[in-house]
Amino acid sequence: MEQQNRYDFGLVGLGVMGRNFILNVADNGFKAFGYDLDEEKVAALKKEGGDTEKVNAATDIATFVAALATPRKIMLLVPAGKVVDIVIDNLIPHLSKDDIIIDGGNSFFTDTDRREAYLKEKGLHFFGAGVSGGAKGARKGPSIMPGGSKSAYAEVQPVFEAVAAKFKGEPCVAYLGPKSAGNYVKMVHNGIEYGMMQLTSEIYDLLRKAGKLDNDELHEVYNTWNQGRLQSFLVEITAEIFKQDDDKGNGRLVDKILDKAKQKGTGKWTSQNAMDLGIPVPTIDIAVSMREISALKEERVLADKLYDRPTPAAIDKNELINKAEEALFFSFIMAYAQGLHQLADASNEYGYDLDLGVIAKIWRAGCIIRAGLLEDIMEAYNRDRKLGNLLASPIFVEKVQATVSRVRALVSYAAQSGIPMPGLSNALTYFDAYTSSHLPLNLIQAQRDHFGSHTYERVDMEGIFHTEWGA
Ligand code: 6PG
Repeated sequence: MEQQNRYDFGLVGLGVMGRNFILNVADNGFKAFGYDLDEEKVAALKKEGGDTEKVNAATDIATFVAALATPRKIMLLVPAGKVVDIVIDNLIPHLSKDDIIIDGGNSFFTDTDRREAYLKEKGLHFFGAGVSGGAKGARKGPSIMPGGSKSAYAEVQPVFEAVAAKFKGEPCVAYLGPKSAGNYVKMVHNGIEYGMMQLTSEIYDLLRKAGKLDNDELHEVYNTWNQGRLQSFLVEITAEIFKQDDDKGNGRLVDKILDKAKQKGTGKWTSQNAMDLGIPVPTIDIAVSMREISALKEERVLADKLYDRPTPAAIDKNELINKAEEALFFSFIMAYAQGLHQLADASNEYGYDLDLGVIAKIWRAGCIIRAGLLEDIMEAYNRDRKLGNLLASPIFVEKVQATVSRVRALVSYAAQSGIPMPGLSNALTYFDAYTSSHLPLNLIQAQRDHFGSHTYERVDMEGIFHTEWGA
């Protein structure tokens, strides 16, 4: 095929995400070519694309690669893990120097580093680009978080900027940093997503159990919240969920869904890596643990029979709703604060040189954690590029200060009522601990030194000390 007739962009993996993404590319005036081993998926794409000069596809890898203009830009939207390595190895023999492979899946960041080094040796560029927004986002505009070779970014930038979601006209994509920076940022995005989902569901639990709100009222409450400072994709879809009738004709669908949450691993990776870095992200940790507790349904049902549970004390509905709004706002801030703190630290540790203001900026539209709050978060990091934790920003001191007393009241009410609020109470204790100049960990140091001669530092003089305790 003549170079000028070739396609601008290649996409491997024509599942829902891949098909939607490639159609989005084509909608934006780039000629796109897809590849999948499944003939039905190839046929479906060609049909939906309408004009094969704009969107074409093949089941044969040589045909696919040959159809692309050089340097080739080939995006993979395939399941994370081994499949990515297999696809890369299948592509390599057909590629030319300086071609670019972009992994758009939720790959683990160290896999991305390994793949980047492997492809570099072969004269090829590699991007780990987190893509957020689900199937609709892929079709209409996702938030894209690319990391990898800076020089090669210029080649993919026009396509990414065209297909990405726009916030007030600005594309929700930016070059984030070298190596696995993009995958890492997407991983932490998902950790924050887990935290926000857990918090949203806890507040729902409180409103239905203590406030006796029915699904119509819950819809109203979340819908109203979405018009205010809690405006966010997750609050918006939550409002919508309460309205959805059961397609089997049995009331509202949400009441028919089994309370066992699944997970694909990105939230867990965020927690695990935060532990490795030594950065506390307890709201994300607890969100992962809650999915695990939820999975123990049979055990929970048995245990429920063994213990009494207090009846929630009477509470004014409006007062409960108002406190719940404050609690959700406060705890969303804690979830972002923890995730961004992790990013700030990872940036130093892995040499990503992340600009957290830019990350907040490209999260404002398209992605699952998009929210009005990100505007303030962006502002906080733009004002102070060295800001580690959002809680240190004057913009947030004010917001947190104005809500925390009602959060305390709500957490204590929930505890008295036996309604589990692990995410919310955790967000509160994280705040209390992070903002305490004195914690009781002096005692832990004493215990460590007592039983294991692990030494301690003193508040009144420099040095490392050990004491023969009880001597
Ligand atoms: C996104 C999402 C997406 C993720 C799902 C499911 O940003 O579009 O984060 O990448 O795969 O949210 O994740 P779990 O199955 O782990 O809940």
